Order: sequence, then C-alpha cells, then structure tokens
Amino acid sequence: MEIGFNVAETLETRIAAVASEMEEFDETFAPDVRPADPRFGDFQANGVLPFAKKQGLNPRALADKLVGRLDGGAWSGVEVSVAGPGFINFTLRPPALLDWLLTYRGENDLKNGASDLYQGKKLVVDYSSPNTAKQMHVAHIRSMVLGEAISRLFEFSGAQVVRDNHIGDWGTQYGKLIHAYKHYLDAEALKSDPLEELERVYKKCDNLCKEDPSVLDSARAELVKLQRGDPENRTLWEEINRISESAFEAIYEELGIRFDTHLGESFYRDKVGEVYAELRRHGIAQESEGALVVFHPEHPRFKKQPFIIRKSDGASNYASTDLATVLYRVREWKAEKIIYVTDGRQQDHFQQLFLTVRKWFASTGRPVPELDHVWFGTILGEDGKAIKTRSGNPIKLKDLLAEAEQRARSIVEEKNPGLPAEEKDDIARAIGIGAVRYADLAQNRTSDYVFSWDKVLSFEGNTAPYLLYAVARIHSIFGRMGESAEIDESSATPFETGQEQQLARKLLTLPEILKMTLGDLRPHFLCTYLYELAGDFSGFYNADKVLVDDAGVKARRILLCRRTLLVLEEGLRLLGIRTLKRM
Ligand code: ARG
Repeated sequence: MEIGFNVAETLETRIAAVASEMEEFDETFAPDVRPADPRFGDFQANGVLPFAKKQGLNPRALADKLVGRLDGGAWSGVEVSVAGPGFINFTLRPPALLDWLLTYRGENDLKNGASDLYQGKKLVVDYSSPNTAKQMHVAHIRSMVLGEAISRLFEFSGAQVVRDNHIGDWGTQYGKLIHAYKHYLDAEALKSDPLEELERVYKKCDNLCKEDPSVLDSARAELVKLQRGDPENRTLWEEINRISESAFEAIYEELGIRFDTHLGESFYRDKVGEVYAELRRHGIAQESEGALVVFHPEHPRFKKQPFIIRKSDGASNYASTDLATVLYRVREWKAEKIIYVTDGRQQDHFQQLFLTVRKWFASTGRPVPELDHVWFGTILGEDGKAIKTRSGNPIKLKDLLAEAEQRARSIVEEKNPGLPAEEKDDIARAIGIGAVRYADLAQNRTSDYVFSWDKVLSFEGNTAPYLLYAVARIHSIFGRMGESAEIDESSATPFETGQEQQLARKLLTLPEILKMTLGDLRPHFLCTYLYELAGDFSGFYNADKVLVDDAGVKARRILLCRRTLLVLEEGLRLLGIRTLKRM
C-alpha cells in the first residue's frame, strides 16, 4: 500500500475522492486531516462536523456513512473509526508504519518527499540585515538564527531560496560617521578593533552634536557631500562599510551563514524615483507638508498614521528603499514570496509596506508576491529586562558566542577529560554555539524569553546539549553493535511493542511537522518535535533490547535506531545546529 510521504495529506486526498462520489458532499467539503491526540489515533479528520452543520445534516451519521465507504485495498493499512460528534480517527497498522519507514530511508528520500511542499517556488529571505558601523549585539542573533533555519527548511521543501542581507548602509548617520572619521579617529585603535573604534568616534560625534551646533553643521555638510558623490566622502563611506562587513563576516562564519546577495539600502537609492512616480500616478501616495506619504483608509490606525516614503527634504528613507527592494526582487529574481526577519518593533513598518505593495502591484498589473514578516520578541536577562552586561551595556554578540564556547569547554573537560584537546575544542564549539542557537529557535519566536546559561547548556530538557547527546548516543550504540548492526532492512517484521509503535508513529509525523513549521514560519514546532522524538527513542531503547536472536525483530529495531538518527541529524541540520558523532 502506497501511503505517501505526508500521511495526513494522503488521507485527505483519499477521503476527498471517496466523498466526491457521495451525493451528500459537494466541493466545499474539506476533510481537514491533522495529527491526532495519540490516545485516539495517529490522525484525525475534523472536516465532516462543520460541513454537516452547514448543510443541516447529522454530523455523526454523515461521518458513519463516509467511513462505511472507506474500505478495500487503499485503506487496508489504516484503522478507521468515528468518534464523538463526527470526528474520524485513523490509526496506521504496523505493516503500514514499516512500509513508510522502509520507503523513506535516507536524507534524499526525505528531501524528495518534502520537496513537493514548495517545489520550484522562488523566495527571498531577508535576514540579519544589520546596520553598518555598529557592533552586533545579542539581539541580532535572533534574525540570523531564525532566518537561516527558515531558509534551510524552505530549500529542503523544494523552494529556490535567495538569502539576501539587506544591510543598513545608507542614511543620515553617515554625516556624523564621516565627520567623526575625519576628526576623532585613533589610527592604532582602528587597527586593533576597527568596528569598536568606529562606534567610539560615532558616539563621540553624536554627543558633540548635541552640545556644539558647529559640529552638527559639519556633519550635515558631510552628508550632503556624500549624497552628491564627493569622491573623498565616497571613499570613506566605502571604507566604513568594508570595516563593518568584515566584522559581520566573522560572525556569519562562526554561525555557518552564507548569503547569496548583500544588496543593502544604498543599492536602491537611485531606484526610488520610479516608485514615487508610480505610487503617485495610481493615487496611492500623496504630498503632505513636503513629504510623500501613503495612508490606508481601510485600516484603523494607518488611515491616520502615514507611511512616509520620501522625507520633506527630498531624501529617500527606510520605506522608500524597502519599496524599491520589493520591485527589484520581483522583477529581477521573480520572487513569489518574500520573508523579512526582524524584531517585533518593526511590525508597523512592515504592515504599511505590505499594504502599500499590494495596492501598488495590483494597480500596475504585476504579480503580487506573498509577503511575510517573521518578527520576534526580546531576549531577557534573568531580571526579566532586556539582557545587558553588568555595567548596563548591550552584550556584544561575539562576546556571547565566545562565552558559550568557553562554558561548553569546561563542561566537556569535566565529562570527558580523556579526549584529545582538538576534539574537545570542536565539541565545545558545537555545543556552545548550538546551545545559544537552539535556545532561540526552541522558543515561540513572538514571545520574549529569559536567557540563562544554566538552562541553555543543560543536558536535560529541550536543549541543544540534550539533542546533541541523543545523536551521539545513537552513534555510540551503532559503534558498540559493530557488524551486528549491518542488517538487511527488508527482513524487518512489523512493530509489536508499545514503544516500537510509538517511536515509529512519531517518525511518520515529520512531514506534517515540516509543513506546520513552514506554514506558520515557527521553527519551534520542529524543535519540540525533535525533543519528543529523542524522548520516544529513549523510551524504546530502555524497554526493548535491540540485539535479540529473532532476525526479524532485530532488523526492525535497528531500523528504528537508524531512522531516529536520520531524522534527528537532518532536523538539527535544518535548524542550523551542527551535530557530533561523539561527545
Ligand atoms: N537594518 C534594519 C535594522 O537593523 C533591518 C532591515 C530589515 N530588512 C528590510 N528589508 N527592511 O533594523
């Protein structure tokens, strides 16, 4: 029996086919199959109830009648029953579970199965996108970690992803930066930590501007010169960007993030004219006190709160470059979906941007891309306020990552003093960086969360160390089994024990979890799943001996070990977490 990669979808298609031959149903009926509460079955179809109500039919009777038609070959692997007021429960029989696991045996099988979901879809993930001349601090990690996981998950699901780093490399801050560069820079300090020095002189200039109007005038004059293309200021601007980007690059390197493009705000500054013209021509934008603005009369707030797309001094801004950016991505890359990963404070900006783009593209007859703002909350310290150093400054990201590795190094030292030093370093890096990353991904992104070293580095609970350990443990199990683990999977017999079945069922829900994760753009669904999977594996391994005499039983238990390892490793890879063979 062919059950397909996503069992819920297979069931849905089959139910719909049966319903289409029954006179009670019409095309508005959607079976709506989802993973079920395990006490009732593997999957549940919830769609009969609302459909029957709408048609004035008895839901329970309708469900009974539908289930009466679900028999014969295609349904032999599934137990079907009606529950409550008209839900339909499905439980896969052990041979069907085994079939599925024999079909999806390696990374490529999973990828082929998953790639139906977004096959060929062109999408852009706009993430990290920091502003130049500033160090990255802890808060910056969220966009990187979420954006990278989402990019990997979409790629795995068949999409063509452009990872675009929309760097904030244009704007009024350059007036002050250039003035500061020319007057306050310490050449030695610039050599030892360039970004730190840029930040220092920028702050100095910013403070002086408040006290001394002549400094402010000079900074403004530098900005105007830059905007007019003055060669000296252009060179300094490039130098500042180069310094920033190489500091960012060190962090991307450490996190294993590689962008396809780095088209920052400056790239779009000469592309905004067309945007202004079109938005005016279609009556979407209007002049207001010298500025160009967009109101959205249908929206409770944005009917009054303008989206300023050109400032009153004629300069472009964040909104204008973002509008030009959408046009560029759709025109040049044929983007069908654009995902922006930023913190929650930018929600208004993106809502206004999306409303504007939809109207603009619809009036010009362009295909309107799907637009998603993947926003996230704040990382809190143990005092419940945004996380800071003891002295009250933001924590630099490079310091946080260094501390993570160092703390993980002492844990490794304690647990495994006998390993070679180089391997200890490598394990520490994987645990430390993985722990920080995973802590971020495992949270529902829209909530704030409290960061605590003890929690993120714990080997218990929903953490990276726990999952990395689960992976290493299965590798060591295989190591100990040696040649006895080399079995022919086709000799496996159907699962019998409760633990075998529970683990097999969990493995089968992976496709639905991937779908949910991408549908909602929330990687924590996948994290929770992997955590539960590791728990089910432990339950199975503690209860059922693997190397038994019965060849069929042994084969199916080894198969479960193999597939658990596959799904854990693949799942963590998709989240951007590097796994280890031993630790
Ligand atoms: N540079 C912005 C910031 O640091 C984030 C940019 C996000 N992307 C975008 N296309 N607006 O807040």
